[in-house]
Amino acid sequence: MTHIRDAEPADLSVLRAIDIATHSVDTSPGPPPDPERHHLGNFGPGQVLVAESEGGRIQGYTAWGHPTPLPSSEHVMQIQALAVDPRFQGEGVGRALIRGVLELARHREATKVSLRVLGTNVVARRLYSLAGFVVEGVLRQEFELENRLVDDILMAHYLDGDFDAHREVDAPRLDQAPD
Ligand SMILES: CC(C)(COP(=O)(O)OP(=O)(O)OC[C@H]1O[C@@H](n2cnc3c(N)ncnc32)[C@H](O)[C@@H]1OP(=O)(O)O)[C@@H](O)C(=O)NCCC(=O)NCCS
Repeated sequence: MTHIRDAEPADLSVLRAIDIATHSVDTSPGPPPDPERHHLGNFGPGQVLVAESEGGRIQGYTAWGHPTPLPSSEHVMQIQALAVDPRFQGEGVGRALIRGVLELARHREATKVSLRVLGTNVVARRLYSLAGFVVEGVLRQEFELENRLVDDILMAHYLDGDFDAHREVDAPRLDQAPD
């Protein structure tokens, strides 16, 4: 059984090791993680969740932030990191972490959970789709990774049941502008 809990400072070195073990051009457009720096230091309390086995081993983690520092985007939680130790992949840990973020979002009364995923990361895209995330948009050829142009896919999970995530966003007519 996997248990989801808030990360503690003592977890950071294990989380860094998971980052290093899972980094590739299919999982991240950025450079390999720096073993000396804890990028998770930028996240505040409650923003990093870890998955822990019954025996107390950390299996993976996820971190979220708001997409902008503006009060107007406080209702959105953006998943900014998700990684499962390769030794525990394929056992439902990623799914449990996503479930943990969605539970937290409901608790915090967020109405939208968003994320960005590389088009080449088919495992993560499938996980997100199965968890109820829909594609909101595609930034085509956003990254050049190993001489290949790769799309960045924007996905979101809406917690407000009335919202139509599939509505088209066309060029508006000027007479439709709000007063
Ligand atoms: C993406 C990742 C977090 C998935 O974690 P995981 O614990 O292996 O995933 P789960 O076991 O919970 O699997 C959930 C779903 O993902 C898909 N999946 C998982 N492993 C897969 C694999 N090797 N091949 C194909 N699909 C796979 C499956 O659809 C699975 O659902 P199913 O078993 O009902 O078919 C993990 O592969 C990882 O850490 N990848 C590297 C980092 C990364 O890509 N992060 C995402 C950045 S946006």
